[in-house]
Amino acid sequence: MSSGTIVEAHPAHEIVRVDLGTRSYDIIIGTHLIEAAGRLIAELRPGAAAFVVTDSNVAESHFPMLERSLAAAGICAAKTVVRAGEASKNFATLERVVDAILAARIERNDLVIALGGGVIGDLAGFAAAIARRGIDVVQIPTTLLAQVDSAIGGKTGINTKHGKNLVGAFHQPCLVLADTQVLDTLPQREFRAGYAEVAKYGLLGDAAFFAWLESNWHELFSGGAARTRAIATSCRMKADFVSRDERERGERALLNLGHTFGHALEAATGFSDRLLHGEAIAIGLALAFRLSVALELCDRKDADRVAAHLAAVGLPTRLADVAGGLPDTDALLQHMAQDKKVRRGALVFVLARGIGKAFMAPDVAPEQVRAVLDAERRRT
Ligand code: GLY
Repeated sequence: MSSGTIVEAHPAHEIVRVDLGTRSYDIIIGTHLIEAAGRLIAELRPGAAAFVVTDSNVAESHFPMLERSLAAAGICAAKTVVRAGEASKNFATLERVVDAILAARIERNDLVIALGGGVIGDLAGFAAAIARRGIDVVQIPTTLLAQVDSAIGGKTGINTKHGKNLVGAFHQPCLVLADTQVLDTLPQREFRAGYAEVAKYGLLGDAAFFAWLESNWHELFSGGAARTRAIATSCRMKADFVSRDERERGERALLNLGHTFGHALEAATGFSDRLLHGEAIAIGLALAFRLSVALELCDRKDADRVAAHLAAVGLPTRLADVAGGLPDTDALLQHMAQDKKVRRGALVFVLARGIGKAFMAPDVAPEQVRAVLDAERRRT
């Protein structure tokens, strides 16, 4: 793998370095990056062939540009297209993707390119991790959520009937290209859902960033410099956590703020379009702050401010916001018990002493969580 910085800085591009020794890599953020991908990849890995994994939506919208860019740089590329949606993160699709990589005779020194949102990044990243015992992967995330979170940091995997992301591998990319222009064509609902992860960075460790988001979220939604700045700030924060704690033995787990509740809500709604991942995280963030208030760790006005901002951008913040309803509190607690954020039976939560002050709470009693969920259900 390359550990060099491979791009000539373009004034409109931000470059964030993920520092992992010989496995360090750049996240490049800005416009026209899919157009430039062939040149950047050829500089990174001269002579390598590439195998593109994408989904049925992105294959139409963004793959043609990537294909032209790779061809112009002399990169021989094959591709496979999987059905768009979370349901593709399964063993059967993984097998098909690995088989396609091997059938295309992609070798260990070649590259897999993940072109798509979080599902594609996780699936293609995992296929790359296991095909020929590991082929390097370039992540080209096409959703806000993937650009600020899932394409960075090397977590890859699939879902099983036991839960989300329960089978996978850490497999760091060798390059991430976050083309902010592709977000212009993202449906508003998906953009908003990704925004929950942007807000999360402020809430967990950077109160000034959260305050900036409160004032600038309109500009960020419209594109331009505010969008690039928010994505770069998010990537920088994530890169720092990953550099310090790649395998999530400690502080990286703070990035899971809102995720214990969020994953349970996603499981309870069948990982369906009823509740997108980022929407579940938005409710999870609001609940994590409410739980922090209930445990007398956090001031109520901070929790109210969190919910007010998320609601202002149009995100759900309450159980009652989930279309089609939810199962009872016991069922939600059971989903939490199956999540990876459980240690020896106790629920592991990320809680907050205020905005920007998250910390790990490894032994939250299920009764305390139950009380918050029950109180939530009683709210009108
Ligand atoms: N999405 C949390 C992490 O990558 O650690």
